Amino acid sequence: MKILVVGSGGREHALAWKLAQSPRVAKIYCAPGNAGTARVAENTSVPVNDHAALITFVKREKIDLAVIGPDDALAAGIVDAFQAAGLRAFGPTARAARLESSKAFAKDFMRRHGIPTAASREFSDSGEARSYCATAKYPLVVKADGLALGKGVVIAGNAAEAIEAVEQSMDAGVFGDAGKKIVIEEFLEGVECSIHALVDGAGYALFPDCRDHKQAFDGGAGPNTGGMGTISPTGSIDASLEAVIRSEILDRFVAGALADGLDFRGMLFPGLMLTAGGPKVLEFNCRWGDPETQVLVRRLESDLVPLLGACIDGTLAAQAIEWKAQSAVCVVLASGGYPGAYRKGEKISGIDQAERSESIVVFHAGTAESPDGLVTNGGRVLGVTALGESPRAARANAYAAADQIHFANQHRRNDIGAAP
Ligand code: AMP
Ligand code: GLY
Repeated sequence: MKILVVGSGGREHALAWKLAQSPRVAKIYCAPGNAGTARVAENTSVPVNDHAALITFVKREKIDLAVIGPDDALAAGIVDAFQAAGLRAFGPTARAARLESSKAFAKDFMRRHGIPTAASREFSDSGEARSYCATAKYPLVVKADGLALGKGVVIAGNAAEAIEAVEQSMDAGVFGDAGKKIVIEEFLEGVECSIHALVDGAGYALFPDCRDHKQAFDGGAGPNTGGMGTISPTGSIDASLEAVIRSEILDRFVAGALADGLDFRGMLFPGLMLTAGGPKVLEFNCRWGDPETQVLVRRLESDLVPLLGACIDGTLAAQAIEWKAQSAVCVVLASGGYPGAYRKGEKISGIDQAERSESIVVFHAGTAESPDGLVTNGGRVLGVTALGESPRAARANAYAAADQIHFANQHRRNDIGAAP
């Protein structure tokens, strides 16, 4: 069969890499892809937000399945458009993806279905939000309602910081329409954990847990990014905690989505805070995490193609999924300055040396081919991904490989997979 992967990040290279190993796959396309996806797929420049053009392309190339990476494409209804054209696409419809694209919608869903999450209030009027901030207890968290590239969350230590966040989002409009409505919620203490589960409408298959490292610098300092690196498993979730995550979060999610008629089919990725009072949902993502996907596909033993098909068809229960017992670590090599301004076009060297070790796969994110060879083309450039017999071994392998890769102004964290 032929598969189209939509997106251009490390997540999409990781998905294309895994799908390409399936004996069922004859060819993979990627829209728009990057220099890494070009090694396992044919990149196409058909614009992802032009659904009609994409559908024409899929029909012309006789593509059997589209796998959608990014949240904004899902929120824009790409899966709805494919379904309406009689085509198969992996991912939730826009209506179901609102669980990610509107935090107020997700909060209401969680409240109604008894899913543990931070207490919160929603505001559409900035005056009301400011008055609330003036008398609230601190710290608290101010969140833009809509998609804001991971930048829409401010942890405010006092009223002045909270009011500033409210004004930036609601009055100055720094997140556009995504920040016109906000959610203000209780600050939760604990360690974070990324949960992934394939959902087929009526049931789910839980994946191993991961941990992302969102802040730019070691020890959790600096601004939030899309994610600077991941480890799986985290070691934070034992059998009894997994049972709670299943019964209080995933079972209730699936039952709630059914009751609300959301027909959620795709990847559900709840970001959790493991608090003293149990796991609580920070947010629902309705897609694969980036760079969580990079470690998950390294550990996935089973063929991914039938799993995605079973999600669409509602037959997940019949699928067995096997995982490697090894740990996986992904270290993101970023352009200096990210998540702020950074330079593009820096020459990249050393990937072949890094990949000489059997435990290593280097997934590309912001890369491009130039007449000079491979160059940087984004904030997160590469995800150096290693397996190891222990978390410590996987970390050592990942950093030894990362040391081989060079480009000007490279930035990385040196504590990926160390204790949270
Ligand atoms: P979100 O996009 O909602 O996952 O938020 C981004 C990041 O902000 C999370 O990964 C957490 O580090 C932090 N965060 C969000 N909500 C809370 C909360 N209620 N308490 C503490 N930290 C939070
Ligand atoms: N790595 C976090 C995310 O994909 O949202």
